[in-house]
Amino acid sequence: MVGRGAYGKVLLVRLRGTERRFAMKVIEKSLLAKPSFVAYMKTERDVMARLNHPFLVRLSMAFQSRERLFLVMPFLKGGELFTRLRRAGLLMEAAVRIYAAEMILAIEHLHEHGIIHRDLKPENILLDDEGHICITDYGLCKVLPGGNKKKDRDSGEDGRAGAGTGTGEGSIVDAIKMQVALPSGADALHGSA
Ligand SMILES: Nc1ncnc2c1ncn2[C@@H]1O[C@H](COP(=O)(O)OP(=O)(O)O)[C@@H](O)[C@H]1O
Ligand SMILES: [Mg+2]
Repeated sequence: MVGRGAYGKVLLVRLRGTERRFAMKVIEKSLLAKPSFVAYMKTERDVMARLNHPFLVRLSMAFQSRERLFLVMPFLKGGELFTRLRRAGLLMEAAVRIYAAEMILAIEHLHEHGIIHRDLKPENILLDDEGHICITDYGLCKVLPGGNKKKDRDSGEDGRAGAGTGTGEGSIVDAIKMQVALPSGADALHGSA
C-alpha cells in the first residue's frame, strides 16, 4: 500500500506479464450509497481521463468488480511533496522555484480545461522518479460548463492539431525539465536545505 485517502487505499501494482508498475486506487462501492460520493467519484474519474500533461496525474485504466472500483494511474515513485517537506524541514530556493513553476503550468492546464482543483495541498502533490511534481486527487474538482475550449482547439481537424500545446506550453515544460537536468537543478530537487 502506498497511500490511504479519505475514501480508499492506493496500492502499488504490476501489470501481469510485464515490469510496468502502476498505482491503483481501490474504492468500495458500498460508499456509492451516498449521492455526494457518486459525484465525487465521477468527477475524479472524468477529470483524470481528460488530462494529458506531464505535471498532472492521468488515468491509465479504470475497471470494476462487483464490490469495488479501480482507478489505475502511473506510479509516482517520489511519494508526496508533504513527506519531502517534512523530511527536508526547509527547501532550497532553487527547488521551490522549480516546484512553483511546475505547479503553475499544471494549474494553468487545468484552468484552460475549465477545471478548478480545490484541494491543492502537499499530500496531493506527488513527485516522480526525477523529482518533478505531479498533481493528483481530482475528486473535489469543479468542472465549469463549456470549459473545454483548449482541448477542442488542440484536437481540431483543421491541420493545426496540437499547435497550442506542442510549441508553446510544451517548450516551457521542456525548458524546466532541461533546467533540472543540469547538475545544479538536479541537486535542487533532490537535495535538502
Ligand atoms: N499515482 C500515485 N503514485 C504514488 N502514490 C500515490 C498515487 N496516487 C496516490 N498516491 C498516494 O495515495 C494517497 C491518497 O491518494 P489520493 O488520490 O490523494 O486519495 P484521497 O482522495 O483519498 O486523498 C496520496 O496522498 C499518495 O500518498
Ligand atoms: Mg488526497
